[in-house]
Amino acid sequence: MISKKPIVVANWKASQNIYKNTEKKILNLIKLLGKDKSKIDLIISPNTVFVQSLKKVFKKSLSLSVQDISFFENGSHTGEITAESVKDIGIDYVIIGHSEKREQGDTQEIIIKKIQNALRQNIKIIYCIGEKDRDDSVKHLKIIEDQIVSVFNNIDKKSFENIIIAYEPVWAINNKNNLSIDSHSLHSMVIYIRKILLEKYGENISKNMNIIYGGSVTKDNAQDILWNGEVQGLLIGRASWENDSLLSIVKNIIISPKKNILQVYGNKK
Ligand code: PGA
Repeated sequence: MISKKPIVVANWKASQNIYKNTEKKILNLIKLLGKDKSKIDLIISPNTVFVQSLKKVFKKSLSLSVQDISFFENGSHTGEITAESVKDIGIDYVIIGHSEKREQGDTQEIIIKKIQNALRQNIKIIYCIGEKDRDDSVKHLKIIEDQIVSVFNNIDKKSFENIIIAYEPVWAINNKNNLSIDSHSLHSMVIYIRKILLEKYGENISKNMNIIYGGSVTKDNAQDILWNGEVQGLLIGRASWENDSLLSIVKNIIISPKKNILQVYGNKK
């Protein structure tokens, strides 16, 4: 089902490496968010080593995601974190297909297998797709189509509802100048993604898929991206690492857009 509240995924990557500080930071974040926390679907993706302890502390009051899972289900695979073990400690989400993992060697084949492993364990997936670059040939549209179809053709239609598509153009991720996509281009991409889903999997799937955006989201662009990009949420990297900045983003996106429009028209009268 399409989310009524903005989905806010905070991808902390490898930025928080001391457990006590991470726990304190989340406690403080929840305190500062206060009632606003119920106006968003907040998913925090901290260092994987910490998720079990964080789950014990925050229980159901916080949705947690791991940043990846293994291609393998079990067996002789040193260093792997399996989907089953993630499910066993009660973690709700996993990010799969992030460009930083693709950069380290995750092929589309590996990504499909990881998604299948997660779905088998009933873990919800934040599935990252996105082109490395764009030019006039619009070949990036084909890349997006392939990333969607290769996954959705290889999973059960019933599990589509467990997937959030995170459109993250690689050129916008971790961009030194915080160059994100403009909201009109994002809106076009969202329409394009829904069109693929409509043509291949039907109206219900297309209408109900949650699509979020990631790549240099900041407090200054979050509102425009969310409202005018017509996405259901944001996947935020660097701007989610400090509570102040994450809070500003949340404040900016939970103001009712309708109220805003009324205010604009009200002022014009
Ligand atoms: P960024 O990262 O917000 O720091 O660009 C986004 C992401 O990696 O998902």
